[in-house]
Amino acid sequence: MTTILSTKGLHKHFGGVLAVNDVNAEFKAKRLRSIIGPNGAGKTTFINVITGRLPASSGAVLFGNQDITNQPAHRLVRLGICRTFQITSIFMGLTVFENVRIAAQSNIGGSLKIFSARESLKEVNAKTWETLDRIGLKDKARIPSNNLAHGDQRLLEVAMALAGDPKILFLDEPTAGMSPAETEHIAELIKGLTETVAVVLVEHDMDVVMSISDEITVLNQGSVIAEGPPREIQNNEMVKEAYLGHA
Ligand SMILES: Nc1ncnc2c1ncn2[C@@H]1O[C@H](COP(=O)(O)OP(=O)(O)O)[C@@H](O)[C@H]1O
Ligand SMILES: [Mg+2]
Repeated sequence: MTTILSTKGLHKHFGGVLAVNDVNAEFKAKRLRSIIGPNGAGKTTFINVITGRLPASSGAVLFGNQDITNQPAHRLVRLGICRTFQITSIFMGLTVFENVRIAAQSNIGGSLKIFSARESLKEVNAKTWETLDRIGLKDKARIPSNNLAHGDQRLLEVAMALAGDPKILFLDEPTAGMSPAETEHIAELIKGLTETVAVVLVEHDMDVVMSISDEITVLNQGSVIAEGPPREIQNNEMVKEAYLGHA
């Protein structure tokens, strides 16, 4: 299985706090790897360093064999390394369709300069409808984004990231604030994304993690304390300790 992206001895500290401590991870094509761990374990920081939102303190991020450590986020997006937009980056006054189209356009606009404006508009619209269909938002395409339920706004974030044709997609707590029914729906959808994309999921809902992950990485105080398929992680003593907090 092809490794899309990996980290080598990655470190990130904030003053005296070692938020990411010597993490070696491999993300493979069309696989879903979840990253779990207690609050403050370094999950978000790890993703922020990989996706160019924060500089690494030391270590490397490799995209295939290419060293991409500390490249700006927009360049990483062009390579296909994407993370979900935060809800705050949705244009609330625009419709669902318009938001996804903007995301599709920023990708296709760059790569299809050889086509005429008219052809590229057709291409962007087709990509937008395809993405909405995949995420199940087609019926809500014409709804202003601020009229969407919270769960649908989170789906829209995923759609916007997907419209950029990522090779690897990082999702940070996509089920936060969702109802159980919404959670079940997005979990299925996230699993389906692995037909085309490597997915890295930070998630606190253990039912979701255990049911859809191929592999799980457990972080505790910035370090990887366990790695493996769900069944192995579920029975791992160190993981139980880190979560239950007794030594
Ligand atoms: N911008 C920041 N400045 C200083 N400390 C930070 C910053 N971001 C995160 N931290 C600290 O780094 C550690 C890891 O945080 P974080 O990556 O948010 O953990 P998680 O996502 O696993 O809950 C925590 O101790 C947190 O307080
Ligand atoms: Mg976090």
